[in-house]
Amino acid sequence: MQLPILSDNDLNQILNEKQKTSYLAMYSSYFGGITKNPKWMMLPIDDHIVHRGDGVFEAFKFLDAKIYGLNEHIDRLYRSAATIELDPQHSKSEIKEIILQTVRAAQTSDGLVRLYLSRGPGGFTTNPYDCAKPGLYIVVTPFVAVAPEKYLKGVTAKISKYQAKDSFYSQIKSCNYLQNVLMKKDAVDSGVDFTVAIDSEGFITEGSTENCAFISSDNELLIPSFANTLRGITLTRMIELAESLVKTGEIKSIREMRVSQPQAFAAKEMAFVGTTLDVLPVRSLNNQNIGEGKAGPIFQKLFKLIIEDVASRDSKMNTNIMN
Ligand SMILES: Cc1ncc(COP(=O)(O)O)c(C=O)c1O
Repeated sequence: MQLPILSDNDLNQILNEKQKTSYLAMYSSYFGGITKNPKWMMLPIDDHIVHRGDGVFEAFKFLDAKIYGLNEHIDRLYRSAATIELDPQHSKSEIKEIILQTVRAAQTSDGLVRLYLSRGPGGFTTNPYDCAKPGLYIVVTPFVAVAPEKYLKGVTAKISKYQAKDSFYSQIKSCNYLQNVLMKKDAVDSGVDFTVAIDSEGFITEGSTENCAFISSDNELLIPSFANTLRGITLTRMIELAESLVKTGEIKSIREMRVSQPQAFAAKEMAFVGTTLDVLPVRSLNNQNIGEGKAGPIFQKLFKLIIEDVASRDSKMNTNIMN
């Protein structure tokens, strides 16, 4: 087999054919601007984010021209960056402005934003000092919601064959998501919707890219300890909104704690919680019914509270994309 040496013309033609994706807009610090043409939505191969996973990221949605949790996602990005000793070299308000301009360029009121802050282009070794300055890449795609019937029937889950990350790595939303990828593969290969990882001592942590929560048999909302999970923006907001159910007596209390596997299997309700799912009830874990084996009433209520919050113009979580 003789490989072709491609001319610029050949490459242009190939890239034009690959253009048929639905990516709407991308900001790249490498180009210093925004492109709407998917053929240019690429990263430099010597960026450490590509060959070492050396970068941090965020994913957040905008619906009806409002970005949900924008400030909270930027804050978490900065926390992740600080933990890996990466200076974003932009103030939070500068990053916010770059995000807003990229979202507006996408010319849609609903979408998903993925933001990657990388060590930057520079070299192929592990040495981060090879990289002259960080890279920032932001891509806007359409938002694909979970099928509505899943919220009624509940989803299936199993304990992952892959162990949770240790405490230090679980707190960083890094682009080194191999463990998360393998957890998702485990779910697909096992024919379930989600997997949930346990830590080295057997306690429940989180899903591949979502937190989880339980309602115990005596009506407590149990949150697996944040010492071993990523502090989800959606879960943090759900906990705030759940206070109203404590007031009405529908929930006895809210407890962040180490949740054992027996406690998980004995729960009346379980749900996955995250940006794209909101609050998604679980009907079975390892083929064992959770509660009555269908979406439970408390997580259905918490789902409703979150989607009302996402839709509300007055919620502290929302930023209008035109601001
Ligand atoms: C490992 C992990 N846990 C939990 C979450 C949920 O976080 P959020 O609600 O901020 O999307 C995510 C998603 O970003 C994640 O990647």
